[in-house]
Amino acid sequence: MHPTVNIAVRAARAAGDIILRYHNQVDLLTIENKSENDFVSEVDKTAESAIIKEIKKAFPQHSVLGEESGKMIGDNDYQWIIDPLDGTTNYLHGFPQYAVSIALIEKKITSHAVIYDPFKEELFTASKGEGAYLNNERIRVTSTNGLKDTLIGTGFPFKHPQHLDCYIETFRAIHPHVSGIRRAGAAALDLAYLAAGRLDGFWEIGLNSWDMAAGALMVKEAGGFIGDFSGRDKYMETGNVVAGNSDVYKQILKKIHPHLTQDLQR
Ligand code: IPD
Ligand code: CA
Ligand code: CA
Repeated sequence: MHPTVNIAVRAARAAGDIILRYHNQVDLLTIENKSENDFVSEVDKTAESAIIKEIKKAFPQHSVLGEESGKMIGDNDYQWIIDPLDGTTNYLHGFPQYAVSIALIEKKITSHAVIYDPFKEELFTASKGEGAYLNNERIRVTSTNGLKDTLIGTGFPFKHPQHLDCYIETFRAIHPHVSGIRRAGAAALDLAYLAAGRLDGFWEIGLNSWDMAAGALMVKEAGGFIGDFSGRDKYMETGNVVAGNSDVYKQILKKIHPHLTQDLQR
């Protein structure tokens, strides 16, 4: 494992310990509403501080973008993107589908990624050009052709209700052609599952960069494709994302594109 990934893994495990410490006592947590349907607890914040502490210990000059603490200025050629708890709503309901997501972007290119599910003890790692791994075993996307028999992941736009009608149209466009559609509630894990061949494709409207920075590298290193709604690579900026194995990626894009409102066609 690359030494930088080792640091990220140590940081993710520190956060995972905090997440697990409270997972049976969520009723004791103080929960704040950041915006509509967007919750944060002290677990998210404490986990993020633990991650930043580990990263800063090893790389004091690097800059950091954390979901809960925002931007920490440093050397912009090296930026860590952190989601300390992806799947907060699941976590707060005791629904065990959540993870820590950490990525390093070097000179605008994502170089390392870690997604850690502390409940299931699943550690997904990837480094650019070196493949993707689940608990140190190499993972790859599926090789299905066409949408028939596929299992597709998605996210509902709870935080962006203005896109609900359009989302439902994209759902309608995919639904008749696939075996099943899952909304598991943690986008970082959705992308990690795609990398591991547990899902064949994925689409979601309105994600943040911290939801997908690590997962995007994971998908690419597992041989998959990821892009925005116009098939280009601006998904970290637009937040609109399609991913899949080579064929499923193209098929999802083709099916949803005619149903997108103008502001979502990118
Ligand atoms: C959320 C999850 C969810 C996705 C939301 C994200 P959070 O992240 O990834 O699957 O649908 O858009 O915001 O808030 O739990 O870190
Ligand atoms: Ca998230
Ligand atoms: Ca989060």
